[in-house]
Amino acid sequence: MNAVATLSKDEIRRRAEALGPWFHNIILNGVPTAPNHFLGDYPAVKWKTFADAIPQDLTGKNVLDIGCNGGFYSIEMKRRGAERVLGIDFDDEYLAQARFAAGVTGSDIEFRKLSVYDVGALREKFDVVLFMGVLYHLRHPLLALDLIHEHVARDLFVFQSMQRGSDEVEPIAENPHFWEVEQFDRPGYPKLHFIERRYADDPTNWWVPNRACAEAMLRSAGFEILNHPEDEVYVCRRVRTPEWAGAVYPARGKKEVTE
Ligand SMILES: C[S@@+](CC[C@H](N)C(=O)[O-])C[C@H]1O[C@@H](n2cnc3c(N)ncnc32)[C@H](O)[C@@H]1O
Repeated sequence: MNAVATLSKDEIRRRAEALGPWFHNIILNGVPTAPNHFLGDYPAVKWKTFADAIPQDLTGKNVLDIGCNGGFYSIEMKRRGAERVLGIDFDDEYLAQARFAAGVTGSDIEFRKLSVYDVGALREKFDVVLFMGVLYHLRHPLLALDLIHEHVARDLFVFQSMQRGSDEVEPIAENPHFWEVEQFDRPGYPKLHFIERRYADDPTNWWVPNRACAEAMLRSAGFEILNHPEDEVYVCRRVRTPEWAGAVYPARGKKEVTE
C-alpha cells in the first residue's frame, strides 16, 4: 500500500491545504479539498450530469485525461475499471494535487507534465480521451482539437467547454456568396469570442465559443457528436476528418531541408 493511503484525516487536511488552492473539490477520506469552491461541489455537480453518458465499465480500456487538474475525472475513470489512466496537465501544482488525490484514494494513475499541443509525443492512442474545460484556455483551440484527433483519440472523445452567446444552432450554407453577409450576425451562426485581456479575473481565458461554434469545431476536427447530455458537454466518436479540414500542424507535406 502506498504511504499516503493510510494517512489520518488531520494529516490529509494538512497536506491538502499545503497543496492548495484546489480547483477540484475531491473528498479524500471525508476531507474536501475545495470546500468553498465558487461553483459549489465542483466538478462532482458537473460529473453527475453526464456520468451516465459514458460507459459504466471501462475494463480493458485506456483513458487520457487532458488538462487533468486535481485528478477528479482521472480517478472516476479508474473507478470504472479502466486498465490505464494517464492524466496530463502543464501545471506542476495541479499535477502534485492529482498525485496526492490518487494516492489517498488508492488509484493507480499516471500523471505527466505535458501540454495538449505536445500530445503527439505520447505515441499512443486512447479508447477514451477527456478534454474537459481546456479549450477556452487555449490561444490555439482548433489546433489542439486537430492534434488530439491526429495523435491520441481512437474512439470516444468527451468534450466540455464554457459557452457564451446564443445557444441557437442553425444550418449554415456550405458555400455562401461573397455578398451574403447577413448570416454572420445571426445568433445561431458559429462564433468564437476572443478575450483580449481577462474574463472572470482569469487571464488564461482566450476563446469562448457559442454552442453552434463548439459543435462546428468538433465536426471540423473529425469528431461526430453522439450525445449532448448537458449544455457544455459532448460525447463524441472519432471519425475521419472532413476532406475540407484536417490538421495543418505538423505540416502535411514535408519540405526538403537543403541548408
Ligand atoms: C478549468 S481547468 C479544467 C480541469 C478539468 N479538466 C475539469 O474539467 O474539471 C483547466 C485545466 O487545463 C489545464 N491546461 C490549460 N492549458 C493547458 C495546456 N495547454 N495543456 C495542458 N493542460 C492545460 C490547466 O492547467 C487546468 O488544470
